[in-house]
Amino acid sequence: MQILVTGGAGYIGSHTCVELIKCGMDVVIVDNFSNSKPVVCDRLELITGKRPKLYTGDVRDSELMDKVFAENEISAVIHFAGLKAVGESVEKPLLYYSCNLDSTFSLLAAMKKAGVGKLIFSSSASVYSDEDESPYSEESMTGCTNPYSRTKLMIEYILKDMYISDPSWQFVILRYFNPIGAHKSGLIGEDPQGIPNNLLPYVAQVAVGRRAFLGVFGNDYDTPDGTGVRDYIHVCDLARGHVLALQKMDGFEGVETINLGTGRGSSVLDVVKAFEKACGKPVPYEIKPRRAGDKAVCYCNPDKAKKLLGFETEYDLDDMCRDTWNWQSRNPEGYGD
Ligand code: NAD
Ligand code: WQD
Repeated sequence: MQILVTGGAGYIGSHTCVELIKCGMDVVIVDNFSNSKPVVCDRLELITGKRPKLYTGDVRDSELMDKVFAENEISAVIHFAGLKAVGESVEKPLLYYSCNLDSTFSLLAAMKKAGVGKLIFSSSASVYSDEDESPYSEESMTGCTNPYSRTKLMIEYILKDMYISDPSWQFVILRYFNPIGAHKSGLIGEDPQGIPNNLLPYVAQVAVGRRAFLGVFGNDYDTPDGTGVRDYIHVCDLARGHVLALQKMDGFEGVETINLGTGRGSSVLDVVKAFEKACGKPVPYEIKPRRAGDKAVCYCNPDKAKKLLGFETEYDLDDMCRDTWNWQSRNPEGYGD
């Protein structure tokens, strides 16, 4: 079975390619390397013994997408390609609307032409409204505070409208909580460009000596230690969730929206402690003001993923920090140049 993975060279995409290949599937990647490196394909081959077929280009390029479907026997698509930095999306909304929405439009058009109806879409916990509370279930209120999250929620609505117009489409929307960790080989992992926006890559870069200290954004939240609480999920667990979704989606009726998280919350200081244990040295930090737009607490109700996919996470926070450190210490500069 051939699976098209858009954005397959990226952080979550590359880990998902490993799981797909492990399960005997053939992977075709389309990636423009705007936030990843071609060397990821070498690493995927080292891990799995199989090299994914690669098309270098933009998913917005309709001619390219038609060619990809014409040259392969694609059964289903996992659509990771998109931009994901919340702060940048506030500064460059058009870039985000164009990249995330236009790529989805051109992908859907190419799928329709090729008669491929199965799509798994990467959505985000950030579509849940601040007016609702954790644990967020799929029924919780949605509401976005930035262009990035809005692109995700808009695409969710677009997919639902497409299904209403033609029920032969099969869509699964996966709402990820906070993916961290890396493949246990240490060959692939998260490699943000510039200063990391997210907690784990920042902590890992402090531990490896690339940054002096971590700024902890607020210690006056209404949480056990005052710092923000999130639902961190190992990227390999998350990747496995995609394979399960692919395997189970034939039994779904309509568009299913499913949370992928652990259902457990950890604070920023819990993460710092677990990371110190993993790397065997202190991770210096300083308390800073709250970051605009942050929720105090965000974790999921994982019941639907368990019920529909049989999905349960295997890894805990210590495992996630161990594997992040394994990746970062073996690749201090990430994938490098
Ligand atoms: P990533 O940036 O590592 O991967 C995205 C990949 O898509 C990159 O390889 C990039 O080069 C490629 N890409 C971007 N725009 C493209 C385009 N127009 N055409 C072709 N390729 C393009 O991000 P990730 O963390 O792996 O996230 C994957 C998906 O999951 C994204 O859609 C993201 O919004 C979503 N998501 C991520 C998180 C997270 O915390 N990492 C959480 C929730 C949802
Ligand atoms: C986690 C916690 C911060 C950095 C973001 C996006 C979301 C999703 C995942 C894609 C918070 C604190 C962070 C730092 C800190 N991406 N923190 N110092 O904010 O839950 O979600 O990434 O969909 O859309 O909004 O993740 O890793 O940025 O922050 O103290 O240098 O760590 O305040 O409490 P977040 P994060």
